[in-house]
Amino acid sequence: MLKAVSLYKQYDRQPILCDVSLTVADGEFLSIMGESGSGKSTFLNILAGNLPPDRGQVLLDGVEISALGDAGLAKLRRTSLGFVYQSLNLIPTLNGADNILLPLYLDRGDLREGRERMQELSARLGISHLLSSMPQNMSGGERQRVAIARAMIHTPSVLMLDEPTGSLDSHSTAEVMELLRMLNRENGVTVIQVTHSERAARYGTRILELSDGRVSER
Ligand SMILES: Nc1ncnc2c1ncn2[C@@H]1O[C@H](COP(=O)(O)OP(=O)(O)O)[C@@H](O)[C@H]1O
Ligand SMILES: [Mg+2]
Repeated sequence: MLKAVSLYKQYDRQPILCDVSLTVADGEFLSIMGESGSGKSTFLNILAGNLPPDRGQVLLDGVEISALGDAGLAKLRRTSLGFVYQSLNLIPTLNGADNILLPLYLDRGDLREGRERMQELSARLGISHLLSSMPQNMSGGERQRVAIARAMIHTPSVLMLDEPTGSLDSHSTAEVMELLRMLNRENGVTVIQVTHSERAARYGTRILELSDGRVSER
């Protein structure tokens, strides 16, 4: 269970989150909507421990992630939480396989086991044919799927994505959303996505609207 308690964040004395509280149960697929600049990315990064709130707490399975140091956060990334940035952060000089395995290279994980997981995941996500391709030769939807595979390489219980379909056409949007739905339903992964696409948001089992620093259920 992910729990946010009274999160407050401001930039340049402009409040972005005004005491926002939220509980996300295991197995939910949550869509967070809001206009551009409403604070969606800020909110998601605080939920992921990437950004400290000015006040408030984030707890994942009872552990306060908003108070973890670098080592604690690194461990969280290896065990419980996958994150897909809006920019994806694929390394242009690495092929699909090595991009997916990057988290294991970085923290010296078990590569043999990792390669097996990478093959399984790639088959599930329909990207086995992309493992030897370079990111520049992939379509936007293909890159997004490779980035999702990378975020899933440690089999996290929670997967967070910032605008996963922001640059995709409607066909690729549906493909990526179907994959998230499959991971959510069949693998039991809790999915939290930020989106301004109504079509993408509707894949969620729950939709929140962020506006004027507050969230409301829809
Ligand atoms: N690092 C930062 N420094 C100053 N202002 C920021 C920073 N990050 C975001 N902001 C401001 O906070 C507001 C919310 O940004 P953001 O969370 O990126 O919104 P969204 O993802 O909904 O478009 C915007 O007005 C943005 O300019
Ligand atoms: Mg954003």
